[in-house]
Amino acid sequence: MNDFVIEHISKIENPLAELVDIANSLRKNGHKILSLSVGDPVNYVKTPDFIIEKYIEALKLGRTFYESWGGNKKLKEAVSKRYNDLYKVNYNTEDVIITQGVSEALQFTNTSLLSKGDTALIISPFFTQYLPNIIMEGATPIFANHEFSNNWDINTESLIQTIKNSGKNKPKYILVTNPNNPTGTVPSEKSLKEVVEIAKNNDIFLISDEIYDELLFNDAKFTSVSQVAKGVPHMILNGASKNLFATGFRIGFSIIPESDKKSLALKNAISMLCNSRLSANTPAEYAITEGISNTKKRTEVLKEVLKRIEKTSNLAYDLIKESEYLEVVKPNSAFYIFPRIKLNKLNIHTDKEFTELLLREQHLEILRGSGFGMDGFIRLVTLPEEDVIKEAFSRIEKFCNFHKKNK
Ligand SMILES: Cc1ncc(COP(=O)(O)O)c(C=O)c1O
Repeated sequence: MNDFVIEHISKIENPLAELVDIANSLRKNGHKILSLSVGDPVNYVKTPDFIIEKYIEALKLGRTFYESWGGNKKLKEAVSKRYNDLYKVNYNTEDVIITQGVSEALQFTNTSLLSKGDTALIISPFFTQYLPNIIMEGATPIFANHEFSNNWDINTESLIQTIKNSGKNKPKYILVTNPNNPTGTVPSEKSLKEVVEIAKNNDIFLISDEIYDELLFNDAKFTSVSQVAKGVPHMILNGASKNLFATGFRIGFSIIPESDKKSLALKNAISMLCNSRLSANTPAEYAITEGISNTKKRTEVLKEVLKRIEKTSNLAYDLIKESEYLEVVKPNSAFYIFPRIKLNKLNIHTDKEFTELLLREQHLEILRGSGFGMDGFIRLVTLPEEDVIKEAFSRIEKFCNFHKKNK
């Protein structure tokens, strides 16, 4: 890397993209690749018609100007009402900021809070894209764990320990992903209450990324941090990408409901950064307002899709249970499954080697767990049709049988 771009760039990895080149060169040689790697629901579920129609209406009405920098007021009202209705909280419209996806909210949050030498606490496994923004500020991510052997619940002991170990360099925030990508599970209410208590006792700002909060099945018992964080400085992240199947609309919501010094300062800082980029996508804001407010249609769409995800996710789970080489926690949210590879049974040493060889030999593209902060696991998207899921696991089984130790 030359010295034109800053040094931190060289520290950024993109595990989501590292197999793309291999997959493309296999395609060039005439191979068909089965890909269960990308978490874009719109590859499988069309953005609902009632949202698309509103988008078109916005264009026809000439809503193509710069929207207010912090977001359309009606959308902000719809977002706060949604939280108030779903979680019986009391959020105000002024507590909501609209961004270009949760990604931009995270970028603005990190730019606002972190500088060289700071730390930010993330709970592994985590959504990969959390890291680049932290690194770009010259800050360092530090980690606590979800516990595989405890249904991927948050290991609050590890959280306490990580904070203790950070000494004087206490993390600027704790970030919880609720429901979780990549595990497809929800933390328990008990563990979330403990996280809130830990944040409070250590005076650390709490962030909860709840972008999958309506994608629940298998009788998941979901608790929003909004329900348990009352009074403790926190921010809720959510958006249109997953619950509304509108990834390309690029609409995210941040809610910072408290009025302590930290919350007000962060709200102010994010607002200033929104101002510096002028506006999020105006017609998309108009359409997503309808997407959230039209509870009847939203619920109908969700019911249909969730029935399907529950089926394909449970099929994937059942196939893994039959496998000699994998073990897994049963998902109840989002659209991922995150099995552990029993590497001791294979002539393969790492999840990276596993996913690369699997792609080359079986033409199946999935992601390595180490890219999500958890070595020895793999992530698969569970949105495809049942026959695709079956085909994927049959290729994995064939692959593992071939690489079995001491055959
Ligand atoms: C946990 C989590 N947060 C945020 C995002 C990105 O959201 P957005 O499309 O709103 O930028 C994703 C996308 O996969 C995600 O899984």
